[in-house]
Amino acid sequence: MNILLLGSGGREHAIAWKLSKSKKLKRLYIGPGNAGTAQLGINIPVSVTDFAAIKNFVLANEINMVVVGPEVPLVNGIFDYFKNDTLLDDVKIIGTSKSGAQLEGSKDFAKAFMQRNNIPTAKYKTFDKKNINEGFSFLKKLSAPYVLKADGLAAGKGVVICESLTEAENELNSMINDMKFGKASEKVIIEEFLNGIEFSVFVLTDGTSYKILPVAKDYKRIGENDTGLNTGGMGSISPVTFVDEKLLKNVEENIIKPTINGLIKEGIKYKGFLYFGLMNVNGSPYVIEYNVRMGDPEAQSVIPRIKTDLLDLFEGVANENLSGKNIEISNQFAASIILVSKGYPEKYEKGKKILNISDVNDSIIFHAGTILDKKTNSILTNGGRVISITSLGDNINEALQKSYHNAGIINFEGKYYRKDIGKDLIL
Ligand code: AMP
Ligand code: GLY
Repeated sequence: MNILLLGSGGREHAIAWKLSKSKKLKRLYIGPGNAGTAQLGINIPVSVTDFAAIKNFVLANEINMVVVGPEVPLVNGIFDYFKNDTLLDDVKIIGTSKSGAQLEGSKDFAKAFMQRNNIPTAKYKTFDKKNINEGFSFLKKLSAPYVLKADGLAAGKGVVICESLTEAENELNSMINDMKFGKASEKVIIEEFLNGIEFSVFVLTDGTSYKILPVAKDYKRIGENDTGLNTGGMGSISPVTFVDEKLLKNVEENIIKPTINGLIKEGIKYKGFLYFGLMNVNGSPYVIEYNVRMGDPEAQSVIPRIKTDLLDLFEGVANENLSGKNIEISNQFAASIILVSKGYPEKYEKGKKILNISDVNDSIIFHAGTILDKKTNSILTNGGRVISITSLGDNINEALQKSYHNAGIINFEGKYYRKDIGKDLIL
């Protein structure tokens, strides 16, 4: 099978790494990819949202399956673009339809979907320019902290938690009236603050049946002890010690099943990954958000724990016979530490030479913001999140120790990483 994998982050390197182990794989292309994916397949210079260019590449290179890594092409309708084109309609797409992608592309849609399908989530109301005054009155009825969310995609920055009423009022005004996040904040969700610990559950679904993938926790803030600005994610751990069988069963019965059944009931075609961002509130799970893709950096800890051939599972998704496949998960712990560029998540440096990657042999290195400098044949930093170092171990300590050892070895000017990833999960 010839595959085109779309994306360029650590998540896509992890997916490429796993696919490249499959006997069913013939050729792997990654568009646009990074210096790490270039070692596993052929990177092609295509934008993930340029559907016409993707179509031309798929037809010219006899691609059988397109695996979509990030959310933006899904929200823009890549699944529907392929299915509505007679030249492309038998190319398998791993990713949801545009209507399913609204679960991530519109928080208002996701909240209403959860309400319709009795899925536990924080109470909320949605406001826009027309009823912003009701929004100000609504805020007065709530107590701090206030949670405000831009309805649309805002590159992970659209959620603002305010400690005071004045701050919340200013934020509501700036999101709606000043269009702080552009069109994404035309509508704003104000919701109840949930107090608990977050974790992430992922499923792979063919639209009717699903496989639950390993549970993970990510670390979103730039600073240790979860302080400072939000990032794309500074590290991840899988499994999560506090997510026991009982809690996972609760998630499956009250969240996963009603979500899949809701999609079926509402006629929404969904074939791919579905990510449940959850909050454990005293043993009861609530949905904080849906994402229509794998998490990054959760994928870097989740995928190495899947023993089953991922390409075989993807075929099950595409052919809608996933229920006939088994999924085997390793009992080992995975710990991923992300090395980031100086300045990230604000303006950061690029073009720094990355040293000593080849000295690492007991961790898996997944590249994110890296690029190969052909002139000097060296790998340079090319993004905020640069490299993720994933290690497996028989316990969380062993996995962390290996990753931290190698985080010290790999080097580039301005390298930064959090030293407390997974510490909260050590029993
Ligand atoms: P999201 O982009 O929806 O994942 O939100 C970003 C972060 O904001 C989440 O990871 C949570 O830490 C926090 N958050 C979102 N919604 C709530 C809520 N209702 N209560 C408490 N924290 C929240
Ligand atoms: N790690 C959070 C995300 O992928 O959205």
